Amino acid sequence: MSIKSKAAVAFEPGKPLEIVEIDVEEPKAHEVMVKIDFTSVCHTDVYTLSGNDPSGIFPAVLGHEATGTVVQIGEGVTSVEVGDKVVPLWKPECGECEYCKKGLNFCSAISETQGKGVMPDGTPRFSYKGEPIYHFMGTSTFSEYTVLADISVSKIPEGAEMDKVALLGCGVTTGLGAVKNDADFQEGSTAAVFGIGTLGLASIQMLKELNASRIIAIDIDNNKEAIAREFGATDFINSNEIDQPIQEYIVDMTNGGVDYSFVCVGHTGTMNAGLEATHKGWGLSVIMGVASGQDKISTRPFQLITGRTWKGSSFGGVTGRTELPEIIKAHMEGKIDLDRFITHRMTIDDINEAIELQNKGESLRDIITFS
Ligand code: CU
Repeated sequence: MSIKSKAAVAFEPGKPLEIVEIDVEEPKAHEVMVKIDFTSVCHTDVYTLSGNDPSGIFPAVLGHEATGTVVQIGEGVTSVEVGDKVVPLWKPECGECEYCKKGLNFCSAISETQGKGVMPDGTPRFSYKGEPIYHFMGTSTFSEYTVLADISVSKIPEGAEMDKVALLGCGVTTGLGAVKNDADFQEGSTAAVFGIGTLGLASIQMLKELNASRIIAIDIDNNKEAIAREFGATDFINSNEIDQPIQEYIVDMTNGGVDYSFVCVGHTGTMNAGLEATHKGWGLSVIMGVASGQDKISTRPFQLITGRTWKGSSFGGVTGRTELPEIIKAHMEGKIDLDRFITHRMTIDDINEAIELQNKGESLRDIITFS
């Protein structure tokens, strides 16, 4: 049994997505079929489509930031019911593996098959004209109907705004969580945020919430200054317009460096600068940007020996099924603003435009519907 579904398919790397009608097989044991209500384009979709990601699998249905409704459940599914509203999780949570048991969001239960673009039984649920179409990040939200493992959906609390909550499926949650969880940002401290896109602005939003005394936003586009300040940045630096390395500039202007830095771009030179812009003795730099291929970060070991810490953040350290509902509730209580991240609303027919805007840094998030 299969159903027809409108989908944006990435047939080849480097080519625009094609809007076609694919076949979606019904969910097998411990799988759920979800009708996607809202989805958005995140940088990882763009990066994979570009062909620069050696692990990219084609043809595939991309997409991993969304909200949807459970329309069918496979055998043995007890965590959700038909009709439940859910956020697809590109980081599942089985609750039983060594990572889940430690409260870490690196669940290993289905990582092997997820990385190969197939469901846990080793086969995809999508096809087009009889040929297999592969899954992406275990979510594939650029299809009106998609199939996920039951451990890859997080139940949405009743009454949440489904369009806005879609943004919590990746980028915004990552930025907020990197500051609050991974950095354990201490109130009143100073911070530098490199890269003013969705991740950077979400980081700034949390820094402001935690009463940062100074928030220095860094980008190479002067058009980002206004929105960075609107979110709460106290300073803005265009790193292309200064005549010394950005880390030296920040160290000078902060009397020794910032307490924390957050690097939201995939450029490794910026990651090095992010660490070196933090203060001796206690500086902490958190990397969120995804770098390409075999790139490596580097710094003098002296930087670490003298008390700086370098770490990374994935999905803001948030566990999808346990903790994401709490973040959604915080949004419902008005503690997290998602409206300001929405730059456009469009239908799936215009998804290539959304990808183009995201690629050029001209949009934060575009909310996409299927009709
Ligand atoms: Cu993402």
